Amino acid sequence: MIKNQWYAVLSSHQIKSGMVTAAKRFGQNLIFFRTSTGELVCLNSLCAHRGASLAKGCVNNDHIQCPFHGIEYESTGKCVHIPSEDKGSKEDYSRFHLIHYPVHEIGGIVFIWYGDKDPVGEPDYFDAMTDPAII
Ligand code: FES
Repeated sequence: MIKNQWYAVLSSHQIKSGMVTAAKRFGQNLIFFRTSTGELVCLNSLCAHRGASLAKGCVNNDHIQCPFHGIEYESTGKCVHIPSEDKGSKEDYSRFHLIHYPVHEIGGIVFIWYGDKDPVGEPDYFDAMTDPAII
């Protein structure tokens, strides 16, 4: 696998609003979900607490919530709530943050950026993928 590239990983129709979709790509267990604005999110699927699969989690207020102890992560993978802590706690949760993968959807195809650098440009695609006369 060549790092720092866009890769087509799923079809858009596989990711339903309010649902979590799991997929294994690049040897990584990933989850995909949509926020209330339709933003597509891709995160590593293992909870940073005890490694429960977030594929069995639920989407609440644009966060993915772990099915085991209820830790919540926002779309960037940032841990934003730990149930044993008060809401609005000032604790540093950075050790619980998940890996986040930049996502693009073009012509019904979901692309993720796989690498250790910031994404460069948009994924390459054929014009026919977005031509309404063809799709
Ligand atoms: S394993 Fe996810 S919150 Fe504990």
